[in-house]
Amino acid sequence: VTPVAGSLESYKALPKAALCVSNDTGIIQWIEEDVHASGLQDVMLKHGILAEDASIVELKPGEFLLPGFIDTHTHAPQVPNIGSGQEDELLNWLAKTTFPTEAKFADVAFARKAYASAVRRIIDNGTTTCCYYGTLHLEGTKVLADIVHQYGQRGFVGKCNMDRNSPEYYVEPSAKESLLRTEELITYIRSLPSGSHATTPNALVQPVLTPRFAISCTSDLLTSLGELAASDPSLTIQTHISENASEIAFTKSLFPPTSLPGQTSETTYAGVYDAFGLLRSNTILAHAVHLEDSEVELIKERNAGISHCPTSNFNLRSGWAKVGVLLDKGIKVGLGTDVSGGFSPSILTAVQHASIASKVVALSAPPSASTHPSSQEQTQAHTSTSTPPFANRQLPIATLLYLATLGGAEVCNLAHRVGSLEVGKEFDALVASVRDDAGNPNLWGIDLEDNVKGDVGREELQGMVERFLFCGDDRNIRRVYVRGKLIGGKVWNAGGRV
Ligand code: GUN
Ligand code: FE
Repeated sequence: VTPVAGSLESYKALPKAALCVSNDTGIIQWIEEDVHASGLQDVMLKHGILAEDASIVELKPGEFLLPGFIDTHTHAPQVPNIGSGQEDELLNWLAKTTFPTEAKFADVAFARKAYASAVRRIIDNGTTTCCYYGTLHLEGTKVLADIVHQYGQRGFVGKCNMDRNSPEYYVEPSAKESLLRTEELITYIRSLPSGSHATTPNALVQPVLTPRFAISCTSDLLTSLGELAASDPSLTIQTHISENASEIAFTKSLFPPTSLPGQTSETTYAGVYDAFGLLRSNTILAHAVHLEDSEVELIKERNAGISHCPTSNFNLRSGWAKVGVLLDKGIKVGLGTDVSGGFSPSILTAVQHASIASKVVALSAPPSASTHPSSQEQTQAHTSTSTPPFANRQLPIATLLYLATLGGAEVCNLAHRVGSLEVGKEFDALVASVRDDAGNPNLWGIDLEDNVKGDVGREELQGMVERFLFCGDDRNIRRVYVRGKLIGGKVWNAGGRV
């Protein structure tokens, strides 16, 4: 099952496909449709592969293959905090719950233990690419990069820049120090060994500039980060934008128009980042709940991407992002778990809440703006290749799958490598199952016997995918692959390190 590039509203469900991955490169070599088990040898021979040279993974009844999930925004040091401070809004929650926990990562031994468990959990939830915030600590964040690298996940790892409006026990001493530590982390991550795929040398783990949010950075710090970014156009940038009403008001008060390089008549949140050269095609902006129209235009113009974090946006009572409007503009959108603003490290939870958020948008749309398709149109949309307006309507299943995979890859500027199962791309994927560990077909208390026995057709497969997206969790994730290598999931954890 794989979303179709260029179309947000369709995916390919291939009930009996064979897919070949090179052991040397981790790249998908070929995909053949309608292959029966008895015909596999012939198909392999056609491609010049002898059975004894290949390791064959045959999916069991109830199992299917999806592109790996891409989490475009999460905080690794907040994983120990999941489920705490659930009654606060953003700024109080940061002060009361988040900063005290992040401060503990000054202790490298603590960091190692906490990050090892966090990254393992995120991988086992099917996330093959993850954009990580670390803490402001250099050594602790190096440990995070080490673990992501060691575990074989694809990811971006950044050290928070924060030199003001933070508690005295958790703040960087100066803009200069913050910059120096950032440069050191970049050098460190870029010197990690490239791993087992000598023929696919692009590193799986990359550094990312991480000004926490405008509030926590002085103009001096943003200026030097902008200069660093300008000197290295390939460097990815991640930050928060327009999440919460109080946060936006505070940001505007900190950066009056006259304080911004190139002075504008009015401050917008996106305009602050842009003034410092931090808004560009490899910038990942988390939340984007309350964007003004002019900001949407600016983000489109700069081709920056949005990380939609609906679990967090509901949980911290921030609001809901107008994802349909962004998609209609052609802005890149992926999903983020935003742990622990969000209470789940699983992109499946983000998918579920992205659906609910879009239903809230549809329900609150003025009647004249409503373009709800009829139920018949919705069914057709499963296979339609058109991209109708998304504003004011609920997101189709195919669009949710897209946001979780290919959309995330676009946000990370990795869509040429991952995000869908296509020949020439690297094999980042997961094997999901609608059965439990014992092979029972009714993981969700629903009798799926008909669906998982014998030949599964396209519609049954689509039905399984929908159920997995809406009520699946890590119990359903059997195998997790990055660049062709098995790195997690139930099978990996049971020792099946094939
Ligand atoms: N804005 C600044 N820091 C954070 C954080 O840790 N989480 C969220 N959700 N928003 C932020
Ligand atoms: Fe966040």
